[in-house]
Amino acid sequence: MKIFLDSANIEQIRQAKALGAIEGVTTNPSLLAREKGDWKKIVRQICKEIDGPVSVEVLATDSVAMLAEARDIVKIAPNVIVKVPVTLEGLKTIAVLRERGVETNATLVFSPNQALLAAKAGASFVSPFVGRLDDIGQDGMQVIEDIMTIFRNYDLPSQVLAASIRHTNHFFQAALLGADAATVPLSVLLDLVKHPLTDIGLAKFLADWSAKE
Ligand code: E4P
Repeated sequence: MKIFLDSANIEQIRQAKALGAIEGVTTNPSLLAREKGDWKKIVRQICKEIDGPVSVEVLATDSVAMLAEARDIVKIAPNVIVKVPVTLEGLKTIAVLRERGVETNATLVFSPNQALLAAKAGASFVSPFVGRLDDIGQDGMQVIEDIMTIFRNYDLPSQVLAASIRHTNHFFQAALLGADAATVPLSVLLDLVKHPLTDIGLAKFLADWSAKE
């Protein structure tokens, strides 16, 4: 499973990169809005830092304007990919971008049917939002499992990117189901490393070593 960082903060991205585990970055308008300065400069900086795909979302809601934004977004760097919400206009946009050879990440996916349509339109990545489904009392991970099954049934080439990952168990379950990628906030990435037995074991090794005669 590829690991992407869900952040637009360059310091967080550098911190995650130093762990050697990050293969891409996902941003969204909310994440970019938190950062000071020109968003294109921020994205350019992120794309220099990370070799893999960096998702940048369109803000327009109609296909013509989405495509105009996408034209600007892809000029920022060769590894930028266009994030498009799965609406009727978004699907049209993904289909046109596929014809133009532009990589896309279909975002705000909350059902297997939306995922199937995004895959048919030619999205490179399809991003089901696990945490937001859990927030409304649904089982986000079940949606990942269903999408994985459907994509396997029909040999669909779109990659499933588990998004809105809120804790380490989401990450683990996504990996167990065979999700192609998961995007995680830095806090979750750091939590993945932690285990109390590692800390206890390390403390014991150090104590035993310092008691050595
Ligand atoms: C994914 O691409 C989104 O940016 C992200 O995972 C949303 O996560 P949230 O529901 O925690 O905001």
